Amino acid sequence: PARGLIDRFGRRHSYLRVSLTDRCNLRCGYCMPPEGITVTPKPQLLDENEVVRVASVFVRMGVDKIRLTGGEPLVRKDLDAIVARLGALPGLSVLAMTSNGITLGERAASLRAAGLNALTISLDTLKRDRFLDITKRDKFDAVMEGIEAALAAGYAPVKINMVVMRGVNDDEIEDFVAWAQDRPLQIRFIEYMPFPGNHWHSAGVVGWNEIRERLETRWKLAPIAVHPSAVAKEFQLVGHQGSIGFVTSMTDSFCGTCNRLRLTSDGNLKTCLFSPAEQSLRDIMRAGGDDAALEAQIGRAVGLKQAAHAPMEELARLGNRAMIEIGG
Ligand code: GTP
Ligand code: 5AD
Ligand code: SF4
Repeated sequence: PARGLIDRFGRRHSYLRVSLTDRCNLRCGYCMPPEGITVTPKPQLLDENEVVRVASVFVRMGVDKIRLTGGEPLVRKDLDAIVARLGALPGLSVLAMTSNGITLGERAASLRAAGLNALTISLDTLKRDRFLDITKRDKFDAVMEGIEAALAAGYAPVKINMVVMRGVNDDEIEDFVAWAQDRPLQIRFIEYMPFPGNHWHSAGVVGWNEIRERLETRWKLAPIAVHPSAVAKEFQLVGHQGSIGFVTSMTDSFCGTCNRLRLTSDGNLKTCLFSPAEQSLRDIMRAGGDDAALEAQIGRAVGLKQAAHAPMEELARLGNRAMIEIGG
């Protein structure tokens, strides 16, 4: 098979984000439209065997990192089996997951034993009342338990994703950094991005330079060398056990070094987070297509990938799925 998944712009795609479900046990407004979404009926989702089959084709084509996303991946009943089978794929070096952490308390250790080797937990506030406002669910304590369990299970670092929104949680930036003082956490400040139905407004975005300047008045930041296609700019805080990262999609986009492909839970390949273009891999499998047919479809889609996402003002017109249906 054609290895490398190289597109017209010379970008080599080695990172696949696999959404396992479009369901979630939280209701964050920046991710899910207030009226909700029509969840995909279970028979239309990729089942365990289909997920593993598609993933193994991608790995043969050059993917060495898979991140499981959602919705909330922990709501998939067969998650442990999927993790164990993906973790055993020869050629895959990173098997990661992004979760809201609610039910991680009991599962962080067993998932690590099964083969998960990197874990990111989404948490936008350290205040219980505000957590309820943002997520519409009173689950703050459960998430904190999940984070403790993740640390105890030995994921290092445990990454914490904070979507920074002006007037909502930007007063807590320093609190998050202080929280990482004595723990192997990486706090990732994420610029708020627009998706259909999420009521994004440009004034809500807090750019990474502003955050960095604020932090530099209290801490010394030392850049950490990262993978050339890394999404985050990372910094060590001198004297801290923890570190920080900035995901700068809005003020300093990073499409030129993109190495990411996405698989939606209903089996569509999406070559860009912000492009409405999708190609079904599920339908090929269900029509009896062989792995060569899957590879051909994947190769075609990668060949059509655009250089960069459209300007933000145009994204609304282009249409896209809601974040909860894509997985970030
Ligand atoms: P690492 O593998 O640990 O670097 O994590 P990651 O940043 O790849 O994944 P995570 O799920 O933690 O995503 C962090 C943020 O980056 C989320 O807001 C994602 O939506 C965003 N993100 C991930 N990939 C891309 C991308 O290709 N383009 C843009 N614009 N944002 C992305
Ligand atoms: N802007 C930025 N990040 C977002 N996420 C979800 N919606 C948005 C948005 N509108 C984050 C989640 C999760 C990651 C996969 O994407 O908080 O941590
Ligand atoms: Fe890659 Fe699209 Fe993200 Fe740009 S917006 S980095 S092209 S996935």
